Amino acid sequence: MIDDDDFCDRPLASPTLGDIISRRISRRAMLKGGLAASAALAAVSPTALMAVEKAASQPFTFKGVARGVDENHVVAEGYDAQILIRWGDAVLPGAPAFDPSNQLAEAQALQFGYNNDYVGYIPLPAGSKSSDHGLLCVNHEYVSAEVMHPTQPEDASDAAKAAWMKKRAAIEIQAHGGSVIEIRKQGGTWTVVENSKYARRVTSDTPMTIAGPAAGHEWMKTKADPTGTKVLGTINNCAGGITPWGTYLMAEENYNKYFGGILPDEDPRLQAFFRYSMPAGGTWMALDDRFDVGKEPNESFRFGWIVEVDPFDPASTPIKRTALGRMAHEGAESIVNKDGRIVVYMGDDSRFEYLYKYVSEGRYDPKKPDPGLLDKGTLYVAQFADDGTMKWLPLIHGTGGLDASNGFDSQARVLIETRRAADILGATPMDRPEDVEANPVTGKVYAMLTNNSQRGQSSMAPPDGPNPRAGNSSGQIVEIGPDGGDHAAATARWDILVLCGDPERDGIGAAWNKATGPDGWFSSPDNCAVDPAGNLWIATDQGDNWVFNSGKAAPDAPKGEVPAGVSSDGFWAIETEGPGRGLAKMLYRCPIGAEMCGPRFTPDGQTLFLAIQHPGDDSCDRWPLFKGPSTFENPATRWPDFKEGMPPRPSVVVVTKKGGGRIGA
Ligand code: FEO
Ligand code: CA
Ligand code: CA
Repeated sequence: MIDDDDFCDRPLASPTLGDIISRRISRRAMLKGGLAASAALAAVSPTALMAVEKAASQPFTFKGVARGVDENHVVAEGYDAQILIRWGDAVLPGAPAFDPSNQLAEAQALQFGYNNDYVGYIPLPAGSKSSDHGLLCVNHEYVSAEVMHPTQPEDASDAAKAAWMKKRAAIEIQAHGGSVIEIRKQGGTWTVVENSKYARRVTSDTPMTIAGPAAGHEWMKTKADPTGTKVLGTINNCAGGITPWGTYLMAEENYNKYFGGILPDEDPRLQAFFRYSMPAGGTWMALDDRFDVGKEPNESFRFGWIVEVDPFDPASTPIKRTALGRMAHEGAESIVNKDGRIVVYMGDDSRFEYLYKYVSEGRYDPKKPDPGLLDKGTLYVAQFADDGTMKWLPLIHGTGGLDASNGFDSQARVLIETRRAADILGATPMDRPEDVEANPVTGKVYAMLTNNSQRGQSSMAPPDGPNPRAGNSSGQIVEIGPDGGDHAAATARWDILVLCGDPERDGIGAAWNKATGPDGWFSSPDNCAVDPAGNLWIATDQGDNWVFNSGKAAPDAPKGEVPAGVSSDGFWAIETEGPGRGLAKMLYRCPIGAEMCGPRFTPDGQTLFLAIQHPGDDSCDRWPLFKGPSTFENPATRWPDFKEGMPPRPSVVVVTKKGGGRIGA
């Protein structure tokens, strides 16, 4: 999503010359001294260093895609990439043909939404491992207004501008949320099943209920809902999860960007607003007062949660599960612990925010699913030590200072103000935690820390073990090994898998397996997926930084040439075990301006679903080979249709191996 980190404010870090990673780390540690030194050494453990010193094996047999930038997408040789569904395609019966120049909220409500992000796959029939028939659950995180809507005349009257903002908000509310579609593979090709009984659009005005400890709290009540248990819609659904019982979890991320207005200085909720960067301004208050905090201050407390949807019943009411905390939720991937409890790993994607896990009280029984598994349990936040150990600290009212002395009147308030509660416990501020996913084959957990240009700057938190680089423009992947293989345990060990970015660029301090070449170096890991064989795959979101992710300053490159080293976002395989640990290669590269989202494999590992988000958007106006800005009328790409008059369309892509077989092998 909107990656508001900025490469340009990255300070020059210490030089890290040298071609041996261990020497680089040691030298960097010497130059930085103190905490940074121990952190840098802790960051690449002896086992990791041993791994990178050995020659790498090559379990991924495909030839990696080269770095680059193109109007079209690129997939590895021997693979096919087909468009499954695009923004505006029909989801529900009666959806009109897509007409981007004449968008209507009523049409969008029946059509596939904008900016697809999370993709979940649920085999059909339910409970099977079918890899040729299933439900696809897809989030629609936000919209890219400049390439989504026709440009409005600047000299329009104020009345016309106001009318347009209302119409636009109504369309966008329907373009957000999620889609459930039924898909089937026949003759090697996946298609959407028309008129499916499962088809559904969830939007930002779908009625939902609020469950768990925060339901009914005073701060959850509004004029429209004096019970504090009902809310309209879900916003900014980034990643998510599929539960073991086959429901679809949608994570509400940057909801603050949809609220405007002013809360009076003396309001007791001001501190809670401030801790969540509320309000960040938005355009929907032109249509609906509930997005104006001056008129409905409590509405925003009803966002920032994990939403559970039953994809098998399109008439079911989605439920906001407040026990899983309130934050800029990136995702919610779960695993059944060895004792049967459900553990959900979650990241709070903002600079210096935290990593969380939720552990259910009850145990999962496939024969008798317990509807309370996501309502009764404990939320924990991560505290890392530089020696490679870590603790999970419980957020429980009445313990650790989470009591009336700090303004917490109840567990409800602890959850509504999850971030402040985690501050008090002493959680470790991280470099923007994105996806966190357990590998069921190895038992290890992988956390994507996408970047944090402010790490180590002025009054900001200094580098530490899991966040070892000041001015971190490129991100890192942290590996967590739960103690005793118990995901519910209060302690774990951690290590760094890779320090991302271009190791040839001065000051970056990137660390990869030595066998990883330039085409394997990626920046800003965001989403991840584990394939059925237990291999880790990474989707990147460099945001506006992609233009600069090069050894050369891209804008100075000769016109007409793609500057060396620059690449659009993509999808990489990365080895995690043995001598190949830290070796990466690219399978798929996005079209210009797009972010890579939604990676999901079918149970047989032979189909990969990718969500291509905001093609033609990020920083295209700064790209030397394009005369920006990128607009509806003059976009940087018209992917995937490439038809005059058709803007770029966020789409889900299906990747398969020519002739069949497991992806990557
Ligand atoms: Fe929506 Fe954190 O990416
Ligand atoms: Ca992102
Ligand atoms: Ca994301």
